[in-house]
Amino acid sequence: MNVTIIGTGNMGRAIATRLLKGGNRVTLIGHEPGKAEALAKELAGTGKDGGSVTAGSRIADEVVILAVWYQHQPALVAQYGEQLANKILVDISNPVNDTYDDLSTKPGSSAAEELAKIAPAGARVVKAFNTTFGGTLITGQVDDQPLDVFIAGDDVEAKKTVARLVESSGLRAVDVGPLKRARHLEGLGLLHITSQFALGTNFGSAVKILA
Ligand SMILES: NC(=O)c1ccc[n+]([C@@H]2O[C@H](COP(=O)([O-])OP(=O)(O)OC[C@H]3O[C@@H](n4cnc5c(N)ncnc54)[C@H](OP(=O)(O)O)[C@@H]3O)[C@@H](O)[C@H]2O)c1
Repeated sequence: MNVTIIGTGNMGRAIATRLLKGGNRVTLIGHEPGKAEALAKELAGTGKDGGSVTAGSRIADEVVILAVWYQHQPALVAQYGEQLANKILVDISNPVNDTYDDLSTKPGSSAAEELAKIAPAGARVVKAFNTTFGGTLITGQVDDQPLDVFIAGDDVEAKKTVARLVESSGLRAVDVGPLKRARHLEGLGLLHITSQFALGTNFGSAVKILA
């Protein structure tokens, strides 16, 4: 699958690494000149089954992963405007406040729902990857178990596309329902973050449903 990732930080790098292992063709878009090119160069040759990576500046792919902070999403939407129309926008954010002890979104909403409100016509927002830490995405596993990627969204086909992307990369996709479930995924993300100190796993843990 062809996928664009906007953002070249921890999650941009981690998700690109994983998608490349799944044979996907990744385009990286950075913020400051040179960062996307440098990351693409670093990750070049790490793909499997035809997975490839390049740096770009225009969005051509149907799936666009926003690997940026929640606070930067409005600027991103303004910057890319119509290029985001009719795309699947994957919101991976945990909208934590400055002290990391609460969410900065209003009660009864979520970062994903706020993104859907400002996204251009035809864009379909899907919440995914917010409960997976960057370091664990590099290997795709914790304790020999593939990571669960919880997916929420109102467009069934968009969710299926993101699920295929996730599964292609050796992870388990779990459809948890409509976009409003993002409120609970973001709460879960916060809980997972704040558990790190008690667990002492240094962001090496995973949230997984076992049966
Ligand atoms: N880190 C994790 O383990 C983790 C886990 C789950 C979810 N998340 C979520 O993932 C998101 C990214 O986290 P992160 O740890 O990857 O943060 P990060 O390392 O700080 O990376 C953020 C990236 O966003 C880029 N950026 C900001 N504005 C941009 C713009 N207008 N256009 C293009 N790129 C832009 C930054 O570019 P510059 O550096 O050039 O400014 C940077 O590459 C956050 O929403 C976070 O809540 C993180």
